[in-house]
Amino acid sequence: MTTDIPADQSRVLIFDTTLRDGEQSPGATMTHDEKLEIAELLDDMGVDIIEAGFPIASEGDFRAVSEIAQRSKQSVICGLARAQLPDIDRCMEAVKHAAQPRIHTFIGTSPLHRAIPNLTMDEMADRIHETVSHARNICDNVQWSPMDATRTEWDYLCRVIEIAIKAGATTINIPDTVGYTAPRESADLIRRLIETVPGADDIVFATHCHNDLGMATANSLAAVEAGARQIECTINGLGERAGNTALEEVVMAMRVRNDIMPFSTQIDTKKIMHISRRVSTVSGFQVQPNKAIVGKNAFAHESGIHQDGMLKNAETFEIMRPEDVGLAGTSLPLGKHSGRAALRAKLKELGTEVGDNQLKDIFVRFKDLADRKKEVYDDDILALVSATTEGGDAISLVNLRVVCGTGGPAEAQIELEIDGTDSTATCEGDGPVDAAFKAIRELHPNKAQLQLYQVNAVTEGTDAQATVSVRLEEDGMIATGQSADTDTVVASALAYIQALNRLVVRRAKVGPGADKREISYKEL
Ligand code: KIV
Ligand code: ZN
Repeated sequence: MTTDIPADQSRVLIFDTTLRDGEQSPGATMTHDEKLEIAELLDDMGVDIIEAGFPIASEGDFRAVSEIAQRSKQSVICGLARAQLPDIDRCMEAVKHAAQPRIHTFIGTSPLHRAIPNLTMDEMADRIHETVSHARNICDNVQWSPMDATRTEWDYLCRVIEIAIKAGATTINIPDTVGYTAPRESADLIRRLIETVPGADDIVFATHCHNDLGMATANSLAAVEAGARQIECTINGLGERAGNTALEEVVMAMRVRNDIMPFSTQIDTKKIMHISRRVSTVSGFQVQPNKAIVGKNAFAHESGIHQDGMLKNAETFEIMRPEDVGLAGTSLPLGKHSGRAALRAKLKELGTEVGDNQLKDIFVRFKDLADRKKEVYDDDILALVSATTEGGDAISLVNLRVVCGTGGPAEAQIELEIDGTDSTATCEGDGPVDAAFKAIRELHPNKAQLQLYQVNAVTEGTDAQATVSVRLEEDGMIATGQSADTDTVVASALAYIQALNRLVVRRAKVGPGADKREISYKEL
């Protein structure tokens, strides 16, 4: 029998589902190329299993999982499938090119979830036997999940897990689908399952927690202490509602508190910051400043007492070193005299590789920014990277002027280059951003709905850059744009234009509606 149990009992497998459970979060949709990039970063950072998508959900998901499988290096590549034979076959079709493929099949086992397909307990048990056996016949590595396990009756949970193990599942995942459980319960559940279910010693138990009550990290770690040896998680805790367990939190907790949690992973923690920033950029979900490990303020020490203590001994207020998660220690800001070579070196230091065209673009923006801002910090540079995209854009901003103030609507006059031709429009709006967006829409008519508009200051001070994220939805296709500028209205217009450019590219690649997700994983 194939088993995933690592010989080392202290080893915890990291199963990343940023590209499946994370990407499923409304608005977090990533493009095909972005998914490939994130999968490569996950593989490089030492993630054991990458859940790359839900192949039956859409053509786009299938293509992404299949290409990620083909490009995979060390990670196991997993696809999700409902408890239906065509789903499982489609999943195998997508992951089969991976050196190490895995099928993850699931069904909701709690009373509420059983009511959806309207199956009796016995009928569901039969379905589990049939689908897991089928998955195991076509793939050596099969994970099975009783969705909403934490609200499933104890006896029934034991019964269906035993069936899945007998049918050949090599990993049993225990999802806390609605983020309802608490740490002690999470530990008890895993411990009792291991003690009770026949065959439990031959498989790996996994924990999959959602963060609705803010306990996902604590619940996952409690499950590991009780015997689970796989944690399912996402970068930045991305995921539906309050998200999933954050990879960076569980990995760093087991590392920093190894004295009381003597477990190990093979994650290269120095790669955490870079992947966190990339996931934030491509998903359009900004990381809250006080987020553990990867928030902008996680290693910032503002107060006088803290700064004094830090200068004397960093350990006074720091339980881990910024370098351990890939934050460059004290690095010098660039200024207006810095050249292209310094910019390239800085990008390399920040873990970002860009092509020559993108570097040219970033350099122009950097010079422009350095003229307006005394010192350009690492975060400013990263914001510029997010604001530029490789390749020629159909729409670009040539000029923008706004008139606004009290006592009347704002007015924006905008000049765009669209497919090589310049045109100008002037519109009024409810504030300067609204006026600018209306003017863009006048020059490039579209039906895209604005789903998200978010502004954040990148660094401190009145000359700080604003990073603006825009998410547009048109015909079921979602595109995000992100831009940065010391002028918030300019950053907003650039982000809006970037999202429109992405919609144009996606429409041309896949045709209207082709990349829409046709099925939700919750449907049966
Ligand atoms: O939260 C959940 O139950 C899931 C399953 C599909 C594993 O994501
Ligand atoms: Zn989930």
